Amino acid sequence: MDILVVGSGGREHALGWKLSQSTKVGTVYHAPGNGGTKNNVPIEAHEIEKLIQFASEKKCLTVVGPEVPLAAGIVDEFVKRGLEIFGPTRDAAQLESSKVWAKNFMKRNGIPTARFEIFDDAKKAIEYARSAAWPLVVKADGLAAGKGVIVCNSSQEAISAINKILVEKSFGSAGLKVILEERIDGAEASYIAISDGTVAYPMATSQDHKRIGDGDAGPNTGGMGAYSPTGVIDDKLAEEIQKDIIEKTISSMKKEGIVFKGFLYAGIMVKDGRPYVLEFNARMGDPECQPIMMRMESDLVDYIKASIGGTLASLPKISWKKQSAVCVVLASRGYPDSFPKDEEICGLDMDSPNSYVFHAGTRLVDGRVLTSGGRVLGVTGTGDTLQDAISNAYGRVEKISWPSKYCRNDIGRKGLDLD
Ligand code: AMP
Ligand code: GLY
Repeated sequence: MDILVVGSGGREHALGWKLSQSTKVGTVYHAPGNGGTKNNVPIEAHEIEKLIQFASEKKCLTVVGPEVPLAAGIVDEFVKRGLEIFGPTRDAAQLESSKVWAKNFMKRNGIPTARFEIFDDAKKAIEYARSAAWPLVVKADGLAAGKGVIVCNSSQEAISAINKILVEKSFGSAGLKVILEERIDGAEASYIAISDGTVAYPMATSQDHKRIGDGDAGPNTGGMGAYSPTGVIDDKLAEEIQKDIIEKTISSMKKEGIVFKGFLYAGIMVKDGRPYVLEFNARMGDPECQPIMMRMESDLVDYIKASIGGTLASLPKISWKKQSAVCVVLASRGYPDSFPKDEEICGLDMDSPNSYVFHAGTRLVDGRVLTSGGRVLGVTGTGDTLQDAISNAYGRVEKISWPSKYCRNDIGRKGLDLD
C-alpha cells in the first residue's frame, strides 16, 4: 500500500519515517514535504482538491498531519469521494479549531478543565479581567498557530491581550471571541491517543517545551523540544487521564453524534495530582511526534487502518521501546517572530544508531539543504536513560550548523528533575 502524508513539518517527516519502515507500505509520498522527506509532491496541505486528485490517481491511503486542512474538512471531502484517509472530520476537529466549542463541550460533559468565561465584547471582557479573583489566561477562539494563548501575570496584561485579540484583531477571524480562563500552575504534559470513534489506545506520554527560551522564558512557540516518556504522568495518572479525559471525550462526542477518528491530543496540566485539560488538538503533536515515533515498536499503519475501519479493539495495545527519546528543535534565531531564510545547513551527513534528524523548515536546492521556516530541524536522540537520550541528541546538535541556528539548551532537564 502507498501512503500520502499531508504536511511539511517535523511531525510529518517522523510519521513518514515510521510508516516507511512497515513491510506493508510501498511508497510514502509527502505533500509538500520538506528538504528531508522523499517523494515530495508539490501540493500544499490546504490544496484539498489537488490532494484528492493525487490520492485518487495513486490509490493511496492519506495521513493528515496539520490542523488547518483537518479544520477545513479534508477528511469529509476524501470520504465523500470514497478515498481512504486518516484523521478527524471537520466536526470532530472542532475540539481543536474552536477553543470556545471545546471548553463548552468539556463543561457539559464533566471533563476536567480550568474555569472560564467567554466574551465577544471587549468592554465586558475587560471589566471581567479587572475584577477576576484569579490569574488569567486569555485565549483566542480559533486556530492561531500556537500564538493565540497569552498567559497573564496581571490584570493589565490580560487587558492588553483582550485588546490585541478583540480590538486590534491580531488573529483575524480566529479572534472574534476570547476565553478568559483561570491560570493553573502545575506540571504540563502531552497525552495523545489514537481513536476509531469508539475505542482509544494511548500513545507514549511526552512533554513539550513551549517557550522559546531556556528555563521556560519568553513567548510561547509551536514547541522547542519534547521527550518521551515523561515522569509527569505515572501509570496511575495515565489510567485516570485515559478514562476520565480521553475515553470520556470519545464517548461524549459519540453521544453528541460526532465520531472522532484520528489522533486525539490532550494538553494536560497536573496540579495537586489531578489532571486538567488545557487544550485539545485533533492531531499528533509537533515536536512530540518525533520522540514518540522513535519509541514506537508496533506497526503504525496497522493502527491507522484500524482507526479508519473502526476495528481498534481487535488489535493489541501499542508497544513501546523501553528507551527514552528526546527531540531538540533547531530553529532560526528570531522565531517565533521574524527570522532569516535560505541559509545553508552544514553537518547533516552523518549516520548514527542513537539519533535521527527530522527536517521541518528546510528545502533541498541543487543538493544543498537551506533553511525555509522558523522551526528548522528536530534532532532526536535515544538512550537507555533520559540523560543518555539528552546527551545523544545534543551531541548531534553540536555537529549541525548554519548562521542563525538557535536552540534551547535544557530540553529534557525538567524530566531529569522529576527523577
Ligand atoms: P494551549 O494552546 O491552550 O495549550 O495553550 C498554550 C500554552 O499556554 C499551554 O501549553 C500552557 O503552557 C499555557 N496555558 C494554556 N492554558 C493555561 C491555563 N489555564 N493555565 C496555565 N497555563 C496555560
Ligand atoms: N507541540 C504542541 C502542539 O503540537 O500543538
